[in-house]
Amino acid sequence: MGYAPIDELHLEFEQLAAQLAAGGDLPATLDALLDHIDRHFALEERLMRDRAFPMLGCHAREHASVREVVAEVRRRHAAGEPEFAQRLAEALPQWFALHASTMDAALAHYLAGCEDIAHRDAAGPA
Ligand SMILES: [Fe+2]
Repeated sequence: MGYAPIDELHLEFEQLAAQLAAGGDLPATLDALLDHIDRHFALEERLMRDRAFPMLGCHAREHASVREVVAEVRRRHAAGEPEFAQRLAEALPQWFALHASTMDAALAHYLAGCEDIAHRDAAGPA
């Protein structure tokens, strides 16, 4: 993306998605994924609010839908329906690739523009 705090979170998301696909301790991975999602989406949403990003509503709604899906898969896994975790593991990388290349790319581009303006203003009139 070119915006370091978001890039780090994206790497972490991809690692957790790969961990989910690998199987193993799925309840622990789903908990870690929910934990990550809360931090990841909260950071992006704070950046969007702080910099008055115009697509905040649409971007945050997509975050909320995905968080709800992951939370539901976690609930169903605990209720003895493990098959949903496998479906999530298949769908998550596709969702993330699309989200990252559209919503997050637009946000990173916007934030980079805000920083350019801040640096220019800090340097004073040319
Ligand atoms: Fe996002």
